[in-house]
Amino acid sequence: MQRIGVLTSGGDAPGMNAAIRAVVRKALYHGLEVLGIKRGFSGFIEADIEPLNAWSVADIVHRGGTMLRTARCEKFKTPEGRRIAKENVDRFGIQGLVVIGGGGSFHGAAIFNREFGLPVMCLPGTIDNDISGTDYSIGFDTAVNTVVEAINKIRDTATSHERTFVVEVMGRDTGFIALTAGLAGGAESIIIPERPFSLEEICARLERNYRKGTSHSIIVVAEGAASGVEIGREIKKRTGFDTKVTILGHLQRGGSPTAFDRVLASMLGAKAVEWLMQGESNKMAGYVAGQVVSVDLERVLNRRKNINLALYDLAGILSI
Ligand code: F6P
Repeated sequence: MQRIGVLTSGGDAPGMNAAIRAVVRKALYHGLEVLGIKRGFSGFIEADIEPLNAWSVADIVHRGGTMLRTARCEKFKTPEGRRIAKENVDRFGIQGLVVIGGGGSFHGAAIFNREFGLPVMCLPGTIDNDISGTDYSIGFDTAVNTVVEAINKIRDTATSHERTFVVEVMGRDTGFIALTAGLAGGAESIIIPERPFSLEEICARLERNYRKGTSHSIIVVAEGAASGVEIGREIKKRTGFDTKVTILGHLQRGGSPTAFDRVLASMLGAKAVEWLMQGESNKMAGYVAGQVVSVDLERVLNRRKNINLALYDLAGILSI
């Protein structure tokens, strides 16, 4: 193998740049050439592909976003789109591909491998942490810290005004961000898609705490469980408490990656290159119990990642 490609696809996540840097520098270390494919799989179709050297990836380890840009490419989902992409793979002499992204991107990589035999290695890169076969995906830790910082700030104003705040966070159809950030931020209630919730209970808890002297509360809602606006409206209606809603939205995707995400991205990126060189394909580099592990892509794509419900119960106990 002499030349590999790297791309980022789907929603961006802090630490993707650190992963690109690791892929490029590890490959160069072993004498491989690296091409960067721009805007996910669109770059393959549009032949938007450029050589990367050690300097191309200087000064990016601390930056959020992705220097390669990203996209969710509809055309790549069609056989015609993939045929054009394959032509460019051949034209640019790409012999192996590292895909950094989430489940949708892995799906694209797996199909491409199946149809044309191009060796692919995937790195989990999404703030949602919804990828099975890895304890953490690149970007999750940063997003959680961003949410916790926001909760801290909201708590200041919630306390001063004696208000109830509903904070809606991302996570697609999962509650990993909500649960982790809710526990770390001391939320009074956490609403996630993986557990049924009762507004009656949440309101009863708010009223109980109010009677005990707590006149402010934070409720974290995962976007996949309910609309923060509706939860806020309902709480206000049922309790009469001054209730405000904050939707954190896309700010959760930005910002400088935490040290954890940078180290994770560096380890996974380097391993992916190593495995490609060893002739491996159709794998994801995951991180389980402190070790980098190789997981079959099929397995990753066919399993839903379980959330730690013990953590959910613990959050309930600790918030009284
Ligand atoms: O997958 C990352 C994510 O930020 C999800 O948490 C969210 O549901 C979705 O992407 C938002 O996508 P878009 O950026 O296309 O609005």
